Amino acid sequence: MEKIKCAVIGTGIFGEIHVHTYKTYDRAELVKICDINEKRAKEISKKYSVKYTTDYKEISEDKEIQAVSVATPDFAHKDIVCEMLKNEKNVLVEKPMATNLKDAEQMVKQSKLSKKILMTDFHNRFNPFFVNLKESFDKGEVGNISFIYARLSDRIDVPLKWFTWSGKSGPHWFLFPHIVDLVIWFSNSLPKRIYAIGKKGVLSSYEVDTYDSVTAILDFGKFYATLETSWIIPESWPSIVDFYFKLEGTKGRLIVDFNEFVNKISSDIKKQTFFPFIVGYTPVDDKPFGFASLPIQHFIDCIFENKKPIITPEDGLINVKIIEKIIESIEKG
Ligand SMILES: NC(=O)c1ccc[n+]([C@@H]2O[C@H](COP(=O)([O-])OP(=O)(O)OC[C@H]3O[C@@H](n4cnc5c(N)ncnc54)[C@H](O)[C@@H]3O)[C@@H](O)[C@H]2O)c1
Repeated sequence: MEKIKCAVIGTGIFGEIHVHTYKTYDRAELVKICDINEKRAKEISKKYSVKYTTDYKEISEDKEIQAVSVATPDFAHKDIVCEMLKNEKNVLVEKPMATNLKDAEQMVKQSKLSKKILMTDFHNRFNPFFVNLKESFDKGEVGNISFIYARLSDRIDVPLKWFTWSGKSGPHWFLFPHIVDLVIWFSNSLPKRIYAIGKKGVLSSYEVDTYDSVTAILDFGKFYATLETSWIIPESWPSIVDFYFKLEGTKGRLIVDFNEFVNKISSDIKKQTFFPFIVGYTPVDDKPFGFASLPIQHFIDCIFENKKPIITPEDGLINVKIIEKIIESIEKG
């Protein structure tokens, strides 16, 4: 079987999931990885027995590479994505597609010129909890949407300890893409008006200049969605994420609460009860298990079978546009 030759640029926390997925997927052949942090590049190269580079141009110039995952920080997607598309690579880019609309527009324009795949990694479209709710919704089991409430927040150690670039992102860019996309995916419509409020103070006291929390109301005319995100949940909270989604329909309701469907681990060593979020990515028998790997495999399948991804370039663009409008609403009051 002819395999799709691929590469990963940005091999940090999430890029490693792309690396692991390509390395173990039978339709993919991981040719090279790239990270500007040579220590990290070397570490991943050794762990997954793959060549590395610190210069992404080495990936774009490699004629045999057909598919590239871009998992660099939120603000650092556009130049790499456009360079890959110009060099006829299919691209899977991490969410958010960009942290401003201009960058997203440039990327979508380049994908049209190059006639190559540009897919944003909205992995909740592959999350079995949401796939199940969407099936029920599409069958008309709960009627039309009356309103949606969704919350996706992180513990404060995510912005303070995981990343050096948190001040260039924020809960609105890092977390809202998921729940904004869920609302657009379920409703298949676009908001007419957006109202939002955001607060700063806690993160900025640690010199991370971004919002602590944001709440937005998206008014679609016939229904509305209230979205909430925070990056300041205390470290004593047992889970890294706080994820809740509720769709109130005219004939029923759909709810998923990820605070309930979790493992619970208490140990004297950690001195704290912990609820690991294992449904996204958990290696089992050295293979990636969980919904985070599914869009990466779908991306390869689309190239392999010459079909279009279920996530269009415009899905990524609309997402950025909505989040930019949320910021505009906060700033203009
Ligand atoms: N961490 C998560 O839970 C998560 C989940 C979903 C999606 N994402 C998304 O994935 C992307 C990456 O996030 P992460 O958590 O892996 O961040 P990270 O900071 O752990 O990794 C980013 C990596 O990109 C590298 N990098 C930066 N600029 C580069 C360049 N020009 N060329 C090559 N490498 C470069 C950095 O050295 C780093 O190793 C972000 O857009 C993020 O929103 C993260």
